[in-house]
Amino acid sequence: MVLNTIKDANFNDKKVVIRVDFNVPIKDGVVTDDTRIKAALPTITYLLEQGATLIVMSHRGRPKGEKNPEFSMAPISKRFSELLNKEVKLAPDVIGSEVEELVKSLEKGDVLLLENCRYYNEETSDDLDFAKKLASYGDVYVNDAFGTAHRAHASTEGISHFLPSYAGFLIEKEVKYMAPLLSNPQKPFVAIIGGSKVSSKITVLESLVNTCDTIVIGGGMAYTFLKVQGKEIGKSLLEDDYIETAKSFLAKAEEKGVKVILPVDHLCGATFSEDAEPVLSEGEIKGDLIGMDIGPKTVELITSEIKTAKSVVWNGPMGVFEFDAFSKGTLEVAKALADCDGITVVGGGDSVAAINKFNLASKISHVSTGGGASLEFLEGKTLPGIKALEK
Ligand code: 3PG
Repeated sequence: MVLNTIKDANFNDKKVVIRVDFNVPIKDGVVTDDTRIKAALPTITYLLEQGATLIVMSHRGRPKGEKNPEFSMAPISKRFSELLNKEVKLAPDVIGSEVEELVKSLEKGDVLLLENCRYYNEETSDDLDFAKKLASYGDVYVNDAFGTAHRAHASTEGISHFLPSYAGFLIEKEVKYMAPLLSNPQKPFVAIIGGSKVSSKITVLESLVNTCDTIVIGGGMAYTFLKVQGKEIGKSLLEDDYIETAKSFLAKAEEKGVKVILPVDHLCGATFSEDAEPVLSEGEIKGDLIGMDIGPKTVELITSEIKTAKSVVWNGPMGVFEFDAFSKGTLEVAKALADCDGITVVGGGDSVAAINKFNLASKISHVSTGGGASLEFLEGKTLPGIKALEK
């Protein structure tokens, strides 16, 4: 996958329409996690240094085509301006004569943030007339919205039909770290896949089994696999409909000579609640207990694999890490990744949240800004927003 990147073009005196993913959490009108805004700054700063004028687009949430002020970009505009240390003008809309006038009045080096592009259904339906209107604001299109690259929307895909299109540094970096995991990872390659559901992680397991040496399956989804192996799992999460799928996955891994690590001990609770007393179960889970985290022996198995790995990818927590008493397994895996000398990549909302909760992001080679996008990338799917930028 070779992308046209911003290093391939001249931006001096150019109006650049740039798509970023500023879909960030906001509470009481204040941005509570600005990671995604910070992640786009290298591209934004570079373009400004090159003499560009910027028309910045993003979505926030899912306003479903309605101009609902609850989804306004206003709080984001404020934080963006603070981080950029520069005035950011906020457009009152996405399209229309007022926005057109504003764009015309921009001077070299100005930054204009459009309102939430999902105020229009034409955005999510990838309407080409709408995309053409967005394209009319500039001479060049840059996409740095990795988190939205799995959506074929007007601002991520449609617009690329009307302007020369380039990947920003963030998209370039995400691809640089993730693409080799699917083609030629440095070996040994360990994939750690957790989370609650087999149904949402089976495709990524089936993709990574082609390139990894070891797959660790943790989190709630592990119990369905343990059931396949004939283990008692108490009242732990079980996806009956996925037993056959889990079974054939284990067979496939064995056939390919990929080592699969499943939990061998568990921290359980009598109820699924924050104040449940953790009970250690070795091997099987008896009675009505619910498995909520991996136990110390499993942690040891996983961390010793990570120690010798040259590449590690982690997607999905090992237990209910939001509950302190059941967060140790996820914490220990996060720490082992932080200490690993190989290339470490963390993707997916929950594992990224875990890494941030434990303040370990700076020790990971690459923490993806994509939730759904990083999962789909690792599933081997073509992301429309990235395909549009290929050479
Ligand atoms: C995300 O938060 O994962 C991205 O911004 C994409 O949002 P979406 O799932 O609403 O398209």
